[in-house]
Amino acid sequence: MTQRPVLLCALTLTLGAFMVLGSVGLSRSSASKGDKAFGEYLSAECVTCHQKSGKVVGGIPAIVGWPEDQFVAVMLSYREGARENQVMRSIVGKFNHDEIEALAAYFGSLKPQK
Ligand code: HEC
Repeated sequence: MTQRPVLLCALTLTLGAFMVLGSVGLSRSSASKGDKAFGEYLSAECVTCHQKSGKVVGGIPAIVGWPEDQFVAVMLSYREGARENQVMRSIVGKFNHDEIEALAAYFGSLKPQK
């Protein structure tokens, strides 16, 4: 019986530690809604045209190092037709919102190389 309060106390402390760690983790990646690793996986198709290095090759624009919100907005503008490009439109149409955010997180994390 005497063990109980100690156990409870330890539990509270552990929970507290997790909450602190959790909020630190959150604030560090607060701009990041997407899953970067998933984005990298999904990016395989994109990088057949867009350069991972951020170089513009063959008139294909660079898409690395962008703020994620901007990346998502541009992707959606192709889907909604605000931007007209047949290639990008059909590509974006294959992805749901989570996947677009994952792509945004991944490409946003890449640094353009000079
Ligand atoms: C077949 C080649 C090709 C593939 C594959 C491709 N893109 Fe594109 N992408 C283009 C072209 C061409 C443009 C320029 C379109 C335009 O003029 O609006 C473009 C434009 C973009 C832009 C806007 C760039 C800017 O500067 O405004 C983004 C963001 C983008 N693509 C993301 C992606 C992502 C993410 C993928 C993979 C899911 C992908 N693209 C796959 C050819 C491609």
